[in-house]
Amino acid sequence: MNILKVSNLRVWDELTGQVIVPNSSFHIKQGNCLSIVGESGSGKSMTCRAIMRLNRGSIRQSGDILFRDVNLAELSDKKIRSLRGKHLCMIMQHGMRAFDPSCVIGVHIRETLAQHYGLNRSESEARMIIAMESVRLKDPAQIMNKYPHQLSGGMLQRIMIALAIVLKPDLIIADEPTTALDAISQYEVVEQLLELRSRMGCAIILVSHDLRIVQKLADEVLVMKAGVIVERGTAQDIFSNARHEYTKYLVSSKLALNKHFHKVMGGTGIVDR
Ligand SMILES: Nc1ncnc2c1ncn2[C@@H]1O[C@H](COP(=O)(O)OP(=O)(O)OP(=O)(O)O)[C@@H](O)[C@H]1O
Ligand SMILES: [Mg+2]
Repeated sequence: MNILKVSNLRVWDELTGQVIVPNSSFHIKQGNCLSIVGESGSGKSMTCRAIMRLNRGSIRQSGDILFRDVNLAELSDKKIRSLRGKHLCMIMQHGMRAFDPSCVIGVHIRETLAQHYGLNRSESEARMIIAMESVRLKDPAQIMNKYPHQLSGGMLQRIMIALAIVLKPDLIIADEPTTALDAISQYEVVEQLLELRSRMGCAIILVSHDLRIVQKLADEVLVMKAGVIVERGTAQDIFSNARHEYTKYLVSSKLALNKHFHKVMGGTGIVDR
């Protein structure tokens, strides 16, 4: 069964007239991991934010986004807000954007958990502290009292993952969930995502430049170039039997680069473990 079916998604900038995603259609099955790969600027984040209806300013979108049997494209702002977090969770590429800069992390967490689960302060803190420890955030109680700008990008990404663990959404959209992390932490976050999936059966849309992470997690892969899905298939097909020239180029160059990077950094390869 599909948990999400996106049909004829179009995203454009009303101000400049630039069409960012001309016409995308794809789906994801319940409990599966769909990975979106492609070079920088190819429209991966725009696609993710369009699903969540989080694009702001002059960015407009059209098309259907069927989440189970609800068309997210047709929901009021209030209704979509009530689905975000509890049913659809996004781990953002830039952690700073995900949190209100004017309040400490604990306030954001308490408000989110009170809104979706009606948890009181001590319940939400207790659950959150366990989740934060499971993603190896040291001293969670102290982190709750910090403003986002006082934390590193990697810490903010881990907080978003911890929040997802507590919220238990049906779909997690992870846009570069490991960009701000070192090699060991990347490995741990991948393990967390795998566990989230096996423990709660949630579906994952994973955007990553690290094809070794994609290989480890994805069931199916979409390859994007200049806003267009140029190839799609099972992870195995894409990695061993790519048909499109761009995919072949991406797979060979990225895997070689990733391998080199991990060697230079002295990290153990995720796939090698
Ligand atoms: N807020 C914005 N307003 C207007 N155009 C934007 C905005 N954000 C991104 N774009 C444009 O949309 C296109 C796709 O951007 P997007 O952020 O989706 O790329 P991406 O595939 O996620 O890249 P990366 O791998 O670097 O994260 C780019 O051409 C970018 O310039
Ligand atoms: Mg992006």
